Amino acid sequence: MNLKELFGYEGKNVVITGAASGMSKSAAELLLELGANVYAIDKNEIDLPVKEKFQVDLSNKEEIDTLIEQLPEKIDALFLCHGIAAFPGRELLVQKVNFYSQKYMTEKLLDRISDHGSVTFISSVGGFGWQQVYNQCVELINLPTWENAMKWYEEHSKLIESAYVFAKQCLESYVTYKCMSKEFIDRRIRLNAINPGDTTTGLTEDFNRSTSPNGDIKEGEEMISNIFLKSWNGYAAEPKNMGYPLVVVGSDICSYMSGQLIYIDFGLTSTWTSGALLQANQKSIEEISRESNE
Ligand SMILES: NC(=O)c1ccc[n+]([C@@H]2O[C@H](COP(=O)([O-])OP(=O)(O)OC[C@H]3O[C@@H](n4cnc5c(N)ncnc54)[C@H](O)[C@@H]3O)[C@@H](O)[C@H]2O)c1
Repeated sequence: MNLKELFGYEGKNVVITGAASGMSKSAAELLLELGANVYAIDKNEIDLPVKEKFQVDLSNKEEIDTLIEQLPEKIDALFLCHGIAAFPGRELLVQKVNFYSQKYMTEKLLDRISDHGSVTFISSVGGFGWQQVYNQCVELINLPTWENAMKWYEEHSKLIESAYVFAKQCLESYVTYKCMSKEFIDRRIRLNAINPGDTTTGLTEDFNRSTSPNGDIKEGEEMISNIFLKSWNGYAAEPKNMGYPLVVVGSDICSYMSGQLIYIDFGLTSTWTSGALLQANQKSIEEISRESNE
C-alpha cells in the first residue's frame, strides 16, 4: 500500500493558516512530506519550503479579502489553525481571530473547495460545554455579513467576556450546525475540528500569563497544570501530537468523517463528561426514590 496515496494529498492544493508556529507548522511539515502543494498563511514570517506563503493579519477583513484573491482557484483541503490567547480588552480581537475570520474564510472559499474536499479547524478543550451557548452561536453564525457580526458582538459584550472559551464554542457549534447544511453536504465537503488539550507551543507563555489574575506566568502555569494535567499526573502535548492528527482528519483516510469534534487530550474531557453524568444520574436516582417515598 502506498502511504502517500492513502492520505491523498500528493499534488493537491492545501491552504493552511497559522503555519509559522506550533501545531499548524507541524501539520504543514507533514503535508509537505506527503506531497501537497501547501499555501501557508500567518501574520508572522513562515519558515517552511511551501508552494506559496502569505503574511496576513487574519483579524482584518480587508487583508483577508485581498488574500482570498491570491489563493488558488481550486482547494482540496483547508485548515484553519490561527489563534491567540485572551487578555482583558482584546475580547473582540479574540472573536475575530479565533472564530469569525475562520467562518468568513470558509464561506468565501467554499466555491473553490473541491467536491469531497475538507475543512478542518483547530478548536480547543476550552470550548467544552459549547452546547450551553449553541443557540447564541447559531444566531451569530446565521448573520450574513462581517459587519452584522461585529454589531452582534457589540450587543453581546457579556457573552464575549470569556473570550477564548466563547470563540472556541462558536467554532464547535459551527461544525455541528453546518456539517449537513446544503452547501457542504451536496458537494460532500467534510467539516471537522480537533480539540487539543494543553500543548507546548508559541501560545504557551500567553496562555500562562492570561490565566493568572495577576498576569504572573508561573502562577498561570500552575493553574493550567491544575486544570489539565494534575488529575492524571499528565504532561503537556507537543505540537506534532495535534498537527499530525489534524492532517489525518483532513485527508482521504477520514473520507467518511464529518461533523466531528475530536478531543485530543488523553481522555481528560471524557472523564469530565463521565463525572457530570454520574452526578446528574445520582440526582435523578435521588429524585425517583424521593417521589416513590411520597
Ligand atoms: N497550545 C495549546 O495548549 C492549545 C490548546 C488548545 C487549542 N489551541 C489552539 O491551537 C491553535 C494553534 O495554536 P498553537 O498552540 O499552535 O499556537 P502558536 O502560537 O504556536 O500558533 C498560532 C499561530 O497563529 C498565528 N496567528 C495568530 N493571530 C493571527 C492573525 N491575526 N493572523 C494570522 N495569523 C495569526 C500566530 O502568528 C501563530 O503562528 C490555536 O487556534 C489555539 O487556540 C492551542
